[in-house]
Amino acid sequence: MEEKRFTDKVVLVTGTTSGIGRTTAAAFAREGARVVTAARREKLGESLVEEITEAGGDACFIKTDIRNPDDVDSLFNQIFERYDRLDIAFNNGGVSHPHIPTVAKTTVEEWDEVIETNARGTWLCMKHEINRMLKQGGGIIVNTSSILGFTADYGLSHYCASKHAILALTRTAALEYAPKNIRINAVCPGPIQTEILERAAKYIPNMYDMVIANTAMKRIGDTDEISGIVLWLCSDEASYMIGKEISVDGGQSI
Ligand SMILES: NC(=O)c1ccc[n+]([C@@H]2O[C@H](COP(=O)([O-])OP(=O)(O)OC[C@H]3O[C@@H](n4cnc5c(N)ncnc54)[C@H](OP(=O)(O)O)[C@@H]3O)[C@@H](O)[C@H]2O)c1
Repeated sequence: MEEKRFTDKVVLVTGTTSGIGRTTAAAFAREGARVVTAARREKLGESLVEEITEAGGDACFIKTDIRNPDDVDSLFNQIFERYDRLDIAFNNGGVSHPHIPTVAKTTVEEWDEVIETNARGTWLCMKHEINRMLKQGGGIIVNTSSILGFTADYGLSHYCASKHAILALTRTAALEYAPKNIRINAVCPGPIQTEILERAAKYIPNMYDMVIANTAMKRIGDTDEISGIVLWLCSDEASYMIGKEISVDGGQSI
């Protein structure tokens, strides 16, 4: 029988009610991990746990809004009460704003929602993860940035700023904690077929056509084309890799 890559590892995945997080949590479970899933929408979160459990895997859902420090405290308290460790964390939960305001037209509410979810939410989770990993002697973290973490796009200043911040956090933390055996990297998806794209398509006429035209491979990616890379980054095969981002974008950023 083929050996599973993450047998008995305790893995946290945020943003598991849809898209990339959902597919990645299921992939970790298939590889033997005990997966803690977190997001806001309870029914969708629990439905993934049912799917994983029915397939013979091990998962739980903890309702969490990563913008809320009390929720994040509670998420990690529950993880440590239940498992007393955390081997791997995939900080993936995030939002974009489908309405695309230019810099000067962005409202404080739009700015705060995106920055507080993506940048501050990722940092808050990392803070708990790193403190725990320091106590237990190591761990692995992957953050979801974006190709907009190193480029720009019209009407997405808040999103670009948040994803640039995630790359800066990834690099800084990788540098700070490499000597403590904590390995931190990021994945930068290009256009992937999820709810974020579906929401944007409602506001931007011909969005899919434009995105496909700007992508060398002339297609939008699937969530399992990201999850495969995330699992690889968390595996021993990536053991000498820290503070880096991998773009998975069908050639959009070439
Ligand atoms: N799809 C793409 O083209 C693309 C490209 C580059 C980067 N990304 C990034 O990939 C990540 C996953 O997005 P996706 O494409 O899979 O889109 P998605 O299907 O919309 O998934 C986003 C996930 O994040 C969760 N989330 C949002 N706000 C949250 C909050 N405050 N607290 C906890 N969880 C929250 C959502 O769950 P709830 O609503 O239930 O909380 C959902 O599970 C995001 O960070 C996104 O920026 C996506």
